[in-house]
Amino acid sequence: MSPERSVDKKRIAFLASGRGSNFQAVIDAIAAGTIPGICVGLVTDNPGAYAIERAKSAGIPVTVVDYARFPAKAAYEEALLSAMRACRADLFVLAGYMRILGFGIVREFSGRMMNIHPALLPAFSGLHAQRQAIEYGVKVAGCTVHLVDEGMDTGPIVVQRCVPVLPDDDETTLADRILAEEHEALPLAVKLFCEGRLEADGRRVRVR
Ligand code: GRF
Repeated sequence: MSPERSVDKKRIAFLASGRGSNFQAVIDAIAAGTIPGICVGLVTDNPGAYAIERAKSAGIPVTVVDYARFPAKAAYEEALLSAMRACRADLFVLAGYMRILGFGIVREFSGRMMNIHPALLPAFSGLHAQRQAIEYGVKVAGCTVHLVDEGMDTGPIVVQRCVPVLPDDDETTLADRILAEEHEALPLAVKLFCEGRLEADGRRVRVR
């Protein structure tokens, strides 16, 4: 069945800037029939993102909004917003999107935009979360899928997974261990959304 004809499935679109392994994890879960959704598009700010190859292999339409080609952030955000609108998505997933979204976009997609972050929020928001965890000396680390609000990595939490931090870990070994959990956590959060089982009540997200 063509994507346009599958009526019961949620339309899922992605924003990604790089490797796209989390994007791939959701593509695979959809292909396996675990998620009642269809991937309707990838929007990227980076023409060199490997996520583009993944989308092409899966037959997912790609829109590149190349950040470097815009004179100012406002013009970039305007183009990004129209690319996002064109996906007509029920859910937007930020899967390694490396820029901060403007308030206009966050407001427009409020309640239907998720981000994956490689730390147990609210600890270690922002860049290099795994390095922050190593440097702080925590014994447990992990990942968080959260709804996107106007702050940085501050939205209501949907799914968290944890991993131990081992004595010999460095940023890379810890990042790899967390990434394996990300590949479980993100498809789970997307599945719950697509099944209509997420209920946000202020900061708390309940799973029905
Ligand atoms: C992941 O660690 C994710 O949590 C963070 O950026 C990384 C993206 O990895 N936001 P990938 O592009 O999904 O492989």
